[in-house]
Amino acid sequence: MSDWSQGYPTDSAYIDAIQTEITPWRWAQAMHFGGLSCPDPGKPFRFLELGCGSAMTLIGLAAAYPWAEFTGYDFMPEHIVMANRLIAEIGLTNIEVLEGSFAEMAANPPAEKYDFAAAHGVWTWVPPEVREEIVDVLGTWMAPGAVAYFGYNAAAGWCSLAPVRKIFRSAPMARSADERYGPARAAAQAWVDMMADGYPQMELLWNKLSEAPDHFLAHEIASPFGTGKWMEDLGRPLERAKMAFAGPAVLVEHMEALYLDAAEMDFLKKAVDGGWGETARDLLLRRTFRNDLFHRGAMKMSGPAMVDNMRGIEVVPWDPALEMGTHPSVGDQLKRGLPDDVLDGLKDLAGDGGRTFGDCMAALDVPAAQAFQVVMTAYVSGNLLDLRPEAQREAAQDGCDRFNAAMMRRLKSRKPMPGFMSPAWGGPIQFGMKAHRAVIAGEAEDSFGLADRMATLGIAV
Ligand SMILES: C[S@@+](CC[C@H](N)C(=O)[O-])C[C@H]1O[C@@H](n2cnc3c(N)ncnc32)[C@H](O)[C@@H]1O
Repeated sequence: MSDWSQGYPTDSAYIDAIQTEITPWRWAQAMHFGGLSCPDPGKPFRFLELGCGSAMTLIGLAAAYPWAEFTGYDFMPEHIVMANRLIAEIGLTNIEVLEGSFAEMAANPPAEKYDFAAAHGVWTWVPPEVREEIVDVLGTWMAPGAVAYFGYNAAAGWCSLAPVRKIFRSAPMARSADERYGPARAAAQAWVDMMADGYPQMELLWNKLSEAPDHFLAHEIASPFGTGKWMEDLGRPLERAKMAFAGPAVLVEHMEALYLDAAEMDFLKKAVDGGWGETARDLLLRRTFRNDLFHRGAMKMSGPAMVDNMRGIEVVPWDPALEMGTHPSVGDQLKRGLPDDVLDGLKDLAGDGGRTFGDCMAALDVPAAQAFQVVMTAYVSGNLLDLRPEAQREAAQDGCDRFNAAMMRRLKSRKPMPGFMSPAWGGPIQFGMKAHRAVIAGEAEDSFGLADRMATLGIAV
């Protein structure tokens, strides 16, 4: 471990990842739904990422929002080299990725402030003094009205894994570099096998983690500061940066009635009345990760203004079973949805092309408030896909084509390929299934109708 690492595991590069929750287009919807205004992602804006890693997400976003400026910082030089190689390969000019620690950033605030910030996989991986530096940066780098996104491990889901973390920090490392956590893996597996009956969530989490490579585990569970946090553990320090909690970044997480049964809703209501709603949400959803938005003095937005915004959004039919990361957080957690006939009717209507969220509402012969709920449910559950205005899609096409071509080159040469970027909805695409990759690489039959979906997303492969 080196001096400059401040306790962060810097002996191996982080995985090349793309984060589907990071998209200003969807953040604006989530902010509005939470009753707050948001910088317009369709107009020029400045976007900052703290701890961007190899900046895969940031580079994709720069391709999808060519009218905006993107800046990423990370203190690991390997990450900066990787990011700049991809930026040069794609030929983007609206992004810079720079080497710098949060402490160095805090000491050098820019003259021109930022409208959006993202810190994914950072807050719950660094020591307390580095968290303070992050707050210092947000307090001096962000413009009034700015929105900051944090993706971080949630305490509710991670507490059951505390013993496994402890094993990873206690067991000696193996001599061979590519087997360094061999003894810790074996001990964790043996312990989980003995205890799993009483801790089903621990088993679920460990099963997932045990498949990850050592260099991922180094960051995720072996780092001395890795932990899960509650929302207030982040919200309270951010008050110093004049930032307040705005709500979940992913729209579906605002609609808990879709996830919870009557007893759970009652538990949540009492918690909300008692002022500890976010803790109750984490517990009820057994959250292992939170994707939260915070704002710096955003204006309030009325319900009717929010509905008007949604009404104007173009929608097309979609299929949640495709697992392409277009509707993050939906998974199999939804307990309630729409009857098939209502869904089919909405998809038929949207399928004609050029239809909006408002057209779908109007086609339902029910009062506006109910129509809004129904179309929103179809949308957040992944049965409708939202499209950005045509002018934005067109402006983004060329950069996204170049980003996606670079990803295709990786896929075809069997290198890690985290995902594509969709000019259609301004966010990253990920494939949940290996079979999808084989289809896109031209190695398997397209039994999923992927080619059509990719065309809708504006991804030429
Ligand atoms: C878990 S990775 C997440 C990377 C990326 N945001 C993602 O989600 O794919 C955390 C990143 O924070 C960076 N980091 C940690 N401490 C830092 C510090 N004090 N200053 C700047 N970057 C730091 C690491 O180098 C690493 O790239």
